[in-house]
Amino acid sequence: KYEKIWIAFGTGSLLVFLTILGIGAFYQGTQPPSCLVTLDPANVQAHESFKEENLGLHQVGENEYVVNVLATAFNYDLGKDAEGNTVRKIRIPAGSKVTFQATTSDVVHGFQLAGTNVNMMLEPGYISDYVTTLNTPGEYTLLCNEYCGLGHHLMMAVVEVY
Ligand code: CUA
Repeated sequence: KYEKIWIAFGTGSLLVFLTILGIGAFYQGTQPPSCLVTLDPANVQAHESFKEENLGLHQVGENEYVVNVLATAFNYDLGKDAEGNTVRKIRIPAGSKVTFQATTSDVVHGFQLAGTNVNMMLEPGYISDYVTTLNTPGEYTLLCNEYCGLGHHLMMAVVEVY
């Protein structure tokens, strides 16, 4: 007799659990935190952060910076400097809060700032972001850790913390 009650209880709990999971997945769009914002990979300039003039380093507060990066095979686009030269290196004061926002307009690329916790996967159609505080002065290499083609090893940029 008691078995029946427990079977009913067990089945009921399972149904409640699945219902909650279902609501979470379908109505709230539960996704990994790095994949919340989507954009059209063929037209990334349509997104404010990835317009050509908005790429690269921006100071947004006293000790706060945003870095917008567009990855393509086989380059990290950090925008142009005041003289119109391609930026290969950005400089950030130690102790600053930095938000890296990055996407790709072609294939999957990696986004790893060697020697730090910054490590993301860039997928077409999604914006990946990572908020960190870079405390230790030094030169850090931004590199691609997802094989993306013949020039994979050429994907590189430098972040200097001073
Ligand atoms: Cu990009 Cu490997």
